[in-house]
Amino acid sequence: MLRGALFRLSRSNKIKDFVTTAPVTGGVVRRFIAGETSNDAVAAARRLVDAGLLVTIDYLGEDTTDPARADAVVVAYLDLLTKLRESRLSPSVEISIKLSALGLHLRDGPRLAWENAELICHAARMADTAVTLDMEDHTTTDSTLELLRTLRKEYAETGAVLQAYLYRTEEDCRDLAEAGSRVRLCKGAYAEPESLAFQDRHDIDRSYVRCMKILMAGSGFPMLATHDQTLIKIGLRLAEEYGRGPKDFEFQMLYGVRPTEQLRLANLGHAVRIYTPYGTDWYGYLIRRLAERPANLRFFARSLITKS
Ligand code: FDA
Repeated sequence: MLRGALFRLSRSNKIKDFVTTAPVTGGVVRRFIAGETSNDAVAAARRLVDAGLLVTIDYLGEDTTDPARADAVVVAYLDLLTKLRESRLSPSVEISIKLSALGLHLRDGPRLAWENAELICHAARMADTAVTLDMEDHTTTDSTLELLRTLRKEYAETGAVLQAYLYRTEEDCRDLAEAGSRVRLCKGAYAEPESLAFQDRHDIDRSYVRCMKILMAGSGFPMLATHDQTLIKIGLRLAEEYGRGPKDFEFQMLYGVRPTEQLRLANLGHAVRIYTPYGTDWYGYLIRRLAERPANLRFFARSLITKS
């Protein structure tokens, strides 16, 4: 319910303007976002890699409303990939992209998003790294998986995200648990209707476990994206059961979330990749992080009220 209300609020431009200009916002943003420029992102990636972690970088932005903006997103990724190559950080650092930022919702969107994604996949390969397609709300699931299939014909290393809260995801895991395929499994961060998605957090967790079993038993490369201690423990047990070492699967977490646990797992010898977003268009991403944890929201709301 809270999540639904937050997403409705997030569509109000007045609230967006208020939140993005309030002085206190900076502190909360800095916790979850690496900075505004590609140099900030590369510097953050360098710190994480030096600490023994792997990284995936996301240039923030979604729901692009004009083709020029989609072009600008491509240019930003090409700039980032050049810097990653020059800094010799790839292949410890891969990148994540959102198809709605590349024009998926525009006229002739699937073709435009595919052309833009292909340019980025090509540049990523030249930089000795790979791309993972983020998953947005359910209206984009089919088109994202369709585009993944097309991209993987030429760029087999391209990965995708599946969301355990959707009823369909077990079936999608079965389809994608094949050799060469990379699947990032997360719980899901959007407000979805009951007709399509589990609402109860225990049901979502149980679905996550079923999906994780399919991926860990399969022959692809599972990327277990969660901060949930119980799911991490089950992931470790499944890795033992299926004989998967650090090169055969990885844990993934978000920049700024449970950093001590990130390092603990890495120090035990597990591969741990940190999803590291940067850019000025951070509002939608921040709202999803606040919605995930009521404590974040209470802290943020209190600061807004007392300091504005
Ligand atoms: P859960 O929300 O139950 O959190 C478990 C514990 O982790 C909490 O008790 C708390 O300690 C900590 N925690 C989690 N979130 C926190 C936060 N925001 N602030 C502070 N502490 C927090 N979603 C999606 O729909 N599409 C996508 O493409 C992606 N991509 C993605 C990539 C990666 C690498 C990760 C880790 C996650 C995503 N997500 C995502 C987000 C995902 O769907 C989910 O919303 C969050 O990961 C939170 O779910 P947990 O599995 O961590 O469990």
